[in-house]
Amino acid sequence: MEVVIQANTDAATELVARILAREVQTNPRPVLGLATGRTMESVYARMVQMHRKEGLDFSACRTFNLDEYVGLPGNDGHAYRHYMNHHLFRQVNIALRNTHLPDGTAANLEAECERYEGLIDQAGGITLQLLGIGHSGHIGFNEPLSAFRSRTRVVALAPTTIRQNAPIFGRADKVPRSAITMGVGTILDGRRCVLLATGEDKAEIIARAVEGPLTSMISASALQLHPDCTVVLDEAAAGRLKKSDYYRWIYTSEPKWDWFRKLPAVVIGSGRNTSSLEDCRLEPAP
Ligand code: F6R
Repeated sequence: MEVVIQANTDAATELVARILAREVQTNPRPVLGLATGRTMESVYARMVQMHRKEGLDFSACRTFNLDEYVGLPGNDGHAYRHYMNHHLFRQVNIALRNTHLPDGTAANLEAECERYEGLIDQAGGITLQLLGIGHSGHIGFNEPLSAFRSRTRVVALAPTTIRQNAPIFGRADKVPRSAITMGVGTILDGRRCVLLATGEDKAEIIARAVEGPLTSMISASALQLHPDCTVVLDEAAAGRLKKSDYYRWIYTSEPKWDWFRKLPAVVIGSGRNTSSLEDCRLEPAP
């Protein structure tokens, strides 16, 4: 695992959007694992901007979302299918048939979970998995006690998650009680994982996931086992980490991040370079 701390939310978002854009641009057959939620809205907005201004081409992409609420049809305003169509898919040149979410209205939910795992396999596996983190420590909707080897399945949402998502539904009792989610094991199978967390309210759970022991009580701690996982944070979300000086040292010394540091207009790390994000141009991978 590596931890990248950026000066502010915009810079953290920019880095994650650029990592995704590079995957789309340099992998001839990108298979993106995607997340929803408030944190990702600005990532997708940035990718839409890159599509419009820089010609970022999504035509070869296939996507698999982490999760979907049980019982909500895709056209429900709260369904994750609706969220994805609205924030990304309908705004870029991706064929909707290449975008996948579990069907939370399937008559046989268990069969739907198996079908979803099969589709990911047929696509050759996820090449880049984007993740957020919930206050319960979940990735996807893998609530506390999810097995590290769990696969796509139906889960009950934890009370913390229902409270976290209540503002979106207006009231806690309107939040569905269950969802289909990729399992922790499904997520760990992705070739690369990138987790983005921003804001002070994520600081405590990030510290436990990154620096705490591996425990199924915090699903995100399983990412410590992943061979290629990057956790991108703003200063606020990094606020409770004990070793942040070490993570900063690694990031500034690590040649693999040179490409990002060289981007002309990104607010990097200490906030040294603060010119307009509009000036960024995609560069081919070295
Ligand atoms: C949603 C998902 C969740 C969210 C997490 C953070 O598809 O997988 O794990 O990423 O709950 O949500 P926000 O960004 O709303 O705090």
